[in-house]
Amino acid sequence: EKGGFESFMDKEIHDQPHAVADTLLGRTDTAGRIVLDDLRIDESVLRSVDKIIVIACGTAAYAGHVAKYAIEHWCRIPVEVELAHEFRYRDPIVDERTLVVAISQSGETMDTLMAVRHAREQGAKVLAIVNTNGSTIPRESDAVLYTHAGPEIAVASTKAFLAQITAAYVLGLYLAQLRGNKYPDEVTQIMDELRDMARKVQTVIERGEYVRATARSMKDADKVLFLGRHVGYPVAMEGALKLKELAYIHAEGFAAGELKHGPIALIDEGQPVFVVVPSPRGRDQLHSKMVSNIQEIRARGARTLVIAEDGDDAVRAYADEIFWIPQAPSLLQPLLAVVPLQIFAMALASAKGLDVDQPRNLAKSVTVE
Ligand code: F6R
Repeated sequence: EKGGFESFMDKEIHDQPHAVADTLLGRTDTAGRIVLDDLRIDESVLRSVDKIIVIACGTAAYAGHVAKYAIEHWCRIPVEVELAHEFRYRDPIVDERTLVVAISQSGETMDTLMAVRHAREQGAKVLAIVNTNGSTIPRESDAVLYTHAGPEIAVASTKAFLAQITAAYVLGLYLAQLRGNKYPDEVTQIMDELRDMARKVQTVIERGEYVRATARSMKDADKVLFLGRHVGYPVAMEGALKLKELAYIHAEGFAAGELKHGPIALIDEGQPVFVVVPSPRGRDQLHSKMVSNIQEIRARGARTLVIAEDGDDAVRAYADEIFWIPQAPSLLQPLLAVVPLQIFAMALASAKGLDVDQPRNLAKSVTVE
């Protein structure tokens, strides 16, 4: 069943181009408009939504953090992202005009399910983004948007993450279309760019050997830091989570802008730091700010492992290693940037002789609170 791969995780990383493509399949009509037939929430309700709260745990929550940037940008609706177990116990402000989006691979995570129930009791509509057909969370939600990543067997989530981001983006574009924030041709264009991501993810996977070799050379690392900005920030946190759960290495993701507010004190000679570099083609200052961040940590001895877009020559002078990813629109970059981080964690865990499919103390679906 591993299809010739060393582990389920390795197979599932290679499944990712399909996970993205299949999640997009059948979501548009011949005119290029997004159609979500199975949504079961009245369009008038979706038009009047004034707040979105994403609830999820772990990797699914990081997918929600990525989606927040896109949905707010496209729809101009405020989006909060909250861990399901925190949401439930804090008396959240939720009413009929709140759309709660529950993201879960398994559809069985107890914390997320309880938060779904809580939200519905408060009168919110709940839309589930779930991978497992017929699971409990979609049954108890008002609507479901399935990710089509196929079964995910390895405990550490990989392809479900890419599919969750993809599905949440489709939802964001659908809301933008419905509410008139985007012209039809803009929606069509972004959908085309999304479809093109499958091919680009494949390119990143094909470049994996260099990541693996780097990971093997770092098997004695005892702490690894990850920096990102904007959508790269949740990617950094996801990279850190992968390394914790698979390789049992202390890892932490930071927003790069936070460095001088504390974390830079952690940098000493030889400290490995992954940096997810925003596109140099973005209209904002994010790229140059990140290049300055890399300079700052390098000057303090960090070993910089940089994920950068093809052609981004500005990072060369300050990077110890560069993992190149294809050029993509800024909001779509997470689908590419996370892949080297997944491969890195898997390869480092393998180099330590660990079972990458079944890390210690973890279960694939957490059906207890
Ligand atoms: C990380 C991981 C977990 C899950 C989390 C939510 O690799 O697998 O953090 O993402 O337990 O699980 P689901 O998505 O099934 O609700």
